[in-house]
Amino acid sequence: MVTMATSPPFQAVLDRIAEEIEQLPGRGRPADYIPALAALDPRRFGMAVAEPDGAVYGVGEWRQPFSTQSVTKVYTLALDLAREGDALWEHVGREPSGNPFNSLVQLEYENGIPRNPFINAGALVVTDRLHTRTGNAAGALLDFLRAESGNPELSFDKEVAASETAHGDRNAALAHFMASYGNIGNPVPVLLDQYFRQCSIDASCADLALATGFLARHGIGADGSRLLTRSQAKQVNAVMLTCGTYDAAGDFAYRVGLPGKSGVGGGIIAVVPGRCTLCVWSPGLDERGNSVAGVAALDRFTTLTGLSVF
Ligand code: DON
Repeated sequence: MVTMATSPPFQAVLDRIAEEIEQLPGRGRPADYIPALAALDPRRFGMAVAEPDGAVYGVGEWRQPFSTQSVTKVYTLALDLAREGDALWEHVGREPSGNPFNSLVQLEYENGIPRNPFINAGALVVTDRLHTRTGNAAGALLDFLRAESGNPELSFDKEVAASETAHGDRNAALAHFMASYGNIGNPVPVLLDQYFRQCSIDASCADLALATGFLARHGIGADGSRLLTRSQAKQVNAVMLTCGTYDAAGDFAYRVGLPGKSGVGGGIIAVVPGRCTLCVWSPGLDERGNSVAGVAALDRFTTLTGLSVF
């Protein structure tokens, strides 16, 4: 269910944030290693807040679909955790990496076990395991996002997936390297196809704020069914807080104080457990791959509302 702006506090806060972001001097640069994303104007901006009951408020381009990219790593983690539980943690860690999201360096020292599920190596492991369990990891993800957002029109962006496939040497290297340690179960080309399709899904701030609601509802999905145990919802939120923005996770926790997950399409989702979920989009990135205006907007949200996990 989508409700237009009827909550004065959230809508007023969003309107004020949009005015402030308009004045923000530097916006960073769109991801250029995925050519299909490179042409986006870094001044574009949208933000949505969803309440646990499905009411959603927004400002700017909050209904504009954008490339979700690594934001999807939260949902594949949740889908796999729901299926295999703690056994997952034998194959991927849950410590911050302190390294860029696409780094290879720790993998050899740590025997092909990635530090966490949100760096690319860890996300590849999660998607591989989800693919083994479902036979179609990207399809399971898309079904999940459609159901939780209430938007049946969400879909893969074939151009973005093809663009990444054509420039995917680093992800291919990560997958082959982990396969050499026995930590990838599917053929690497099959896994990469699933992973690039996963990352190519387009969705809007409204869609993602709603689709993330299960993490504010302690594991309960949009239709009232349980997707994760309360403890697993806590675990996903905790890994988002410590690892969701890569080597900037400390700064994100300091500035925003919420579990959050970024993507190189310029989206960031964030969770205020029990209270609301947020999604902000602006395609200009900092050097660590996080949206400059997105982090600034979330920083202002928690400052203006006092809503944070601390
Ligand atoms: O695999 C990649 O490099 C991209 N499809 C996703 C990376 C990403 O979004 C990192 N987030 N900030």
